[in-house]
Amino acid sequence: MNRSDQARILRKNIKGIKQKVAVGRKRKKQYIHFDNAASTPALQSVLNDLNGFLDWYSGVHRGTGYKSMVSSRVYDDCHSVIGQFVNADQARDTIIMVNNTTEAINKLSYRLHLKPSDVVVTTDMEHHSNDLPWRGKATVVYVRVDKDGVLDLDHAAHCLKKNYPRVKLLTVCGASNVTGHVNDVHLLAEIAHEYGCRIMVDGAQLIPHRRFDMKPNSDPRHIDFLAFSGHKIFSPFGSGVLIGPREIFTQNPPDYRGGGTVKIVMKKKVYWSDPPDSDEPGSPNVTGTYALARTLSYLNQLGMDILQEHEESLTSFLLERISKIPGITVYGSADRVGVVTFNIDGLPHALVGAILCYEAGIGTRTGCFCAQNYVRHLLGLEENHGHVELYDDNRNDKIPGMVRVSLAGYNTREEIDYLLQWLKDITQNKYEFKKRYRFFADQGSFIPVEFASGALVDKIYKRCMK
Ligand SMILES: Cc1ncc(COP(=O)(O)O)c(C=O)c1O
Repeated sequence: MNRSDQARILRKNIKGIKQKVAVGRKRKKQYIHFDNAASTPALQSVLNDLNGFLDWYSGVHRGTGYKSMVSSRVYDDCHSVIGQFVNADQARDTIIMVNNTTEAINKLSYRLHLKPSDVVVTTDMEHHSNDLPWRGKATVVYVRVDKDGVLDLDHAAHCLKKNYPRVKLLTVCGASNVTGHVNDVHLLAEIAHEYGCRIMVDGAQLIPHRRFDMKPNSDPRHIDFLAFSGHKIFSPFGSGVLIGPREIFTQNPPDYRGGGTVKIVMKKKVYWSDPPDSDEPGSPNVTGTYALARTLSYLNQLGMDILQEHEESLTSFLLERISKIPGITVYGSADRVGVVTFNIDGLPHALVGAILCYEAGIGTRTGCFCAQNYVRHLLGLEENHGHVELYDDNRNDKIPGMVRVSLAGYNTREEIDYLLQWLKDITQNKYEFKKRYRFFADQGSFIPVEFASGALVDKIYKRCMK
């Protein structure tokens, strides 16, 4: 089977793929989801699996009934299925289930027990979730990026060398959620290890798009820590992962403590559980972990490489065509996953997003994508140009930002063609489109004057919440 066949199989398995949305007063269109970098839809086959498993669902680790025994075994084994997906060195690593990438990185920032004099090297292209957790715990040094947002590898090596031996961690995204740029994390790992420094890869945007190999510990290019989220890889059930050397999680007591994290509790002494239990406090997310493991097994069977090829061909097609539309600026210029960000001259990003939503039935994302420093850099802006006041006043019509189209292996060329037609229409008829919308500062968004879009959302909301 070729890549289009595999992509079609995946597409058929996408829950809600035929969902229609209103575009105008009376017309409906099949929704196009181009916001996969935020979250991807669920898979019907995994929902079926989950339905079957729920017959056997019970609390884990502490029950003596059949259901608890089955659930405990399933839950524990799902850890290694998840580890295998990224070829974690399971003799060395522990696989800790958390809620999402943000929690995984925060956990690591506590579990490394950093001192203010230790140095953590991160980069100017990170999501806030791989920047803010490190601040205040160690001295944070930022590797710079060039004008297109590409990481400067020489500067990375310089930062590591300059801060040796105080540098304890290099932490970098596998792929950017703004430009989609893919970093050569194995090369970075090799450089980091030369300076006795570990590497953490924020895999939130990489793992859903490319087959990834953490490599064995004996390989100088191995990845020490990896974090990623289930909801970005077709498993929106509240599970995320932190993978890393078991020894790191046995050196100190866990950051969150309570039931499940202990073997023995005495009045004055506590014997902590071994990881991952020590780091999965309380009753864990059994169903979310199960769903993620089933999703990853499904993707493995379908072939991550083939899905990657399909996504790459869609991305090249989109990039080639969009850059030819006069009046559109596309950001970034390197090897990338299916993330394309742009602006249309003379139109606020939030307005472009609103037009695509309300008139084309296309879901995108606009703004700074939780990476404000990176977006400011790409737009060539200084920090102090009224950003704070604009945020306080909810002025999404003025806040600098971009429009992001993010693809996944189930999207199609026809969907991209349709988007491109809309972008051409918008760039050619800017003033007509502008007239059709009003900005509401209380909601921070543009709403079409012609039809009461809110009423439709209300109707669907009521159906979901009944
Ligand atoms: C690169 C990157 N890192 C981290 C995160 C945070 O992921 P989560 O919201 O699942 O914690 C995101 C989310 O968009 C991301 O794109």
